[in-house]
Amino acid sequence: MLRQIHALVEDLTPRLLDIRRHLHSHPELSGQEYKTAAYVSGVLSSCGLEVQELVGKTGVIGELRGSHDTRILGIRADMDGLPLTERVNLAFASTQPGLMHACGHDVHTTVAMGTAMVLAQLASPLPGTTRFLFQPAEETAQGARWMIEAGAMAGVSAMLGLHVYPNLAAGAIGIRYGVLTAAADDLDITIIGEAGHGARPHEAIDAIWIAAQVVTTLQQAISRTQNPLHPVVLTIGQIGGGRAANVIAERVTLSGTVRSLHPDSRKHLPEWIEKIVAAVCQPYGARCEIRYRRGVPSVVNDLALTELTSRCAREALGETHLQLIDEPSLGSEDFSLYLEHAPGTMFRLGVGFTDRATNYPLHHPKFEVNEAAIATGVMTMAYSAYRYWHTSA
Ligand code: NI
Repeated sequence: MLRQIHALVEDLTPRLLDIRRHLHSHPELSGQEYKTAAYVSGVLSSCGLEVQELVGKTGVIGELRGSHDTRILGIRADMDGLPLTERVNLAFASTQPGLMHACGHDVHTTVAMGTAMVLAQLASPLPGTTRFLFQPAEETAQGARWMIEAGAMAGVSAMLGLHVYPNLAAGAIGIRYGVLTAAADDLDITIIGEAGHGARPHEAIDAIWIAAQVVTTLQQAISRTQNPLHPVVLTIGQIGGGRAANVIAERVTLSGTVRSLHPDSRKHLPEWIEKIVAAVCQPYGARCEIRYRRGVPSVVNDLALTELTSRCAREALGETHLQLIDEPSLGSEDFSLYLEHAPGTMFRLGVGFTDRATNYPLHHPKFEVNEAAIATGVMTMAYSAYRYWHTSA
């Protein structure tokens, strides 16, 4: 079977390169993936999949029906680009001013389409159904939620996904057991003091001075009150307040992102932040309003499914093309929302060039993909799907 899949991938590779280049030159913003979705759905239909469009706004679902097994294997790809101006000289560079596929979602979409094509052409049909979820708006952490609300996870027994990884050479797969990415939540803090003359601080409540203490106290409190083995990163990235140089500010707003790797830490973060901010404000008579919004949880890779992709990558690509990833990332990924409905695993797809001194990171205007990765991704994904149906009962 491995040989058959290898042969199919080899035959399909030129077409997959065309597909990837088409997607790359036509990036669309999160939630506006209309043309991408139409393109994906056209190709999937032509391969004999049952296709549903406009799932969760601009998502697409393609199903390859199984012969008898009632379980469903989900394979997820994200389709959105980023608001960045591309600074790479490619023949197939972005044709959309100010938009770029700088996170490799063009590759994710291509690999999932390639996997569908391979599985659809296997000599004997798979026992169970494979459902391909092409989701919108991953970059804004909205798309997975839209897809789930539209019923995309109904009946799904396991999920597979991948993300490109420029630190790993093309041809290689990165595997991580357990936690892969961080939970990411949003935080808004408003400090409300009392305005007054800049020369008479004792008659006012200075919201700027208190906000400065809130920022430093939160950072110090992390190091003294959070378990250092369960990392928490709190970044205030935006601050606003004050109207004039000689007027004491009445109100300051602070906005930030809160990342954590352990569910226990994450659970207590809202009350922990509230307690600290209130304790800073209270002695000076200021008030605070805190809005803590849960974003996406951590991606926690299922052990059995990670073992499956790991074994398949090893068999399909060779031992040297498999790399265990030692550390989780504090980045976030809304793939985690699917994992609230079914176990799953996400692997890293190496897209780096070995002959270059610098492989620019994701979300960089010079980010570039080594296209040799596409065949590696399809091979690993298609063989993992095949083995999923043929090893588990
Ligand atoms: Ni991404």
